[in-house]
Amino acid sequence: MTEWDGPAYDALPLPHQQWGKRTIAALNLQPSETLLDAGCGTGRDAQVALETLTSGELICVDQSRTMLDQCRAAIGADPRVTIAQGDLDSPLPVAQNSIDAIMSVAALHWLSDHKNVWVNFFTALKPGGRLATDAGGFGNLERTLNLALKLFPETSFPSWYYANVEDTTSLLIQAGFTNCEVELRPHPTVLPSYETLVTYLQTLVFRDWPLTQIETLAKAMTDSTLDYVRLEVRATKP
Ligand SMILES: C[S@@+](CC[C@H](N)C(=O)[O-])C[C@H]1O[C@@H](n2cnc3c(N)ncnc32)[C@H](O)[C@@H]1O
Repeated sequence: MTEWDGPAYDALPLPHQQWGKRTIAALNLQPSETLLDAGCGTGRDAQVALETLTSGELICVDQSRTMLDQCRAAIGADPRVTIAQGDLDSPLPVAQNSIDAIMSVAALHWLSDHKNVWVNFFTALKPGGRLATDAGGFGNLERTLNLALKLFPETSFPSWYYANVEDTTSLLIQAGFTNCEVELRPHPTVLPSYETLVTYLQTLVFRDWPLTQIETLAKAMTDSTLDYVRLEVRATKP
């Protein structure tokens, strides 16, 4: 899979910023807490969280070197920030029971199985620690992907996993979480122009596609709307 382009990602007007703000708000962060951003990307949400964590700590974890380079350039010099490369399918690069809150925005659907993810989050959190995540959920981009398949029947997609409420709730409970709130929230997003749509599809959704194929799809998306459905999770470690 083609690597992420951190600068191009940061230059785009992304609905991810709204998803990040919702996720951070759900955590009700306190100034001295330790927050882990799982799948932090370029650190845009991390920068928002740092406004609250005035005497706290922030640990940014992502598996992409290019996204972490961009993150490091933005906030790497901040003494409150630790940046670590890691796979969310593996134990997090922190001590057990050490984290007050975990957030994750638009990252978890890139993992084809969530069982380890919730266990890894549970293990890292302190008792009483909180979890708030956003990811593509069941039905996410269905219309867009069906259109892509109609235009290019031979195409294949990355192994995105758009989890549903029932499976997610069950895995959270199995991992040990309580106060589990799991919700699917449609968030259709209109992009401002054809050019933005092309760059968006190229940078975020179909990173392996040739430009001509992306342009054909973008032209066929006459309303420039991405039919996002978000899976939002809020839970607590007892
Ligand atoms: C769409 S970006 C979201 C970045 C950031 N959270 C935001 O909202 O702007 C998805 C991110 O998830 C990361 N990611 C995907 N699979 C991952 C995995 N298995 N472990 C760690 N990070 C992963 C990617 O490297 C990428 O930075």
